[in-house]
Amino acid sequence: MLTFYVLTLFPKIFISPLGESILNNAQKKGYLRVEIINIRDFTRNKYKQVDDYPYGGGAGMVMKADPIVSGIEWIKNRDSKAWTILFTPQGDKLCQDTLETLLDSHKSFILICGRYEGIDERIKNFVNQEISIGDYILCGGEAAAIVLIEALTRLVPGVLGGENSAKNESFFNSLLEYPQYTRPDKFRGIEVPRVLLSGNHSEINWWRRKQSLKRTLEKRPDLLRKANLNEDDIAFLEEIKLEFLKKEI
Ligand code: ADE
Repeated sequence: MLTFYVLTLFPKIFISPLGESILNNAQKKGYLRVEIINIRDFTRNKYKQVDDYPYGGGAGMVMKADPIVSGIEWIKNRDSKAWTILFTPQGDKLCQDTLETLLDSHKSFILICGRYEGIDERIKNFVNQEISIGDYILCGGEAAAIVLIEALTRLVPGVLGGENSAKNESFFNSLLEYPQYTRPDKFRGIEVPRVLLSGNHSEINWWRRKQSLKRTLEKRPDLLRKANLNEDDIAFLEEIKLEFLKKEI
């Protein structure tokens, strides 16, 4: 069972993402447990104040370290091994490899969602890892926490169920996914590639493999370096690389 303790000022943000579809089922089936904890519950002042003006001046407010650290300690009293993650645009960029490492190394996570202009820098002494979900600025860490919960949960064996497992997909083998089609075979004049209607499974598999290779070469050539390629794959890539070069001349 994967457990997430989420420290946030906006617990309601999590209701819908956790209450639908795969994350909802994962909780019902006992693969996932999420505790949403309000940082405001750990304030010690009369007005339950969670932020304050920045030392040195400047615009905006800064989240106080104290309520968050008290929240972390409260959680750690019950689950001392929980791995503490702070969401920030300055953190390690989240990628599929990071997810796999996290899943292999930890069973429970404390996710700290910051808001406002930032959190008092001293919070960093109380976290294990800082994570960013991309080079852009969100209003807070809540959306990032949902991304992490979803991306990790779907890797837990059983969550997606048999056929539908995470194994066939982009990044599993460092290749982008091949294109998928469903009925009708002709939509607004656009036809499904013939081979997919042929019933010849070895031809279909090779066509899909070639599509994955071609897409990866075109869109994410950096991924090919890590991919598990056989001789046929390499020969095909050489062939289409030559075609690209000819087009460019
Ligand atoms: N908080 C604000 N922007 C963020 C980002 N890109 N990733 C993680 N946390 C954030």
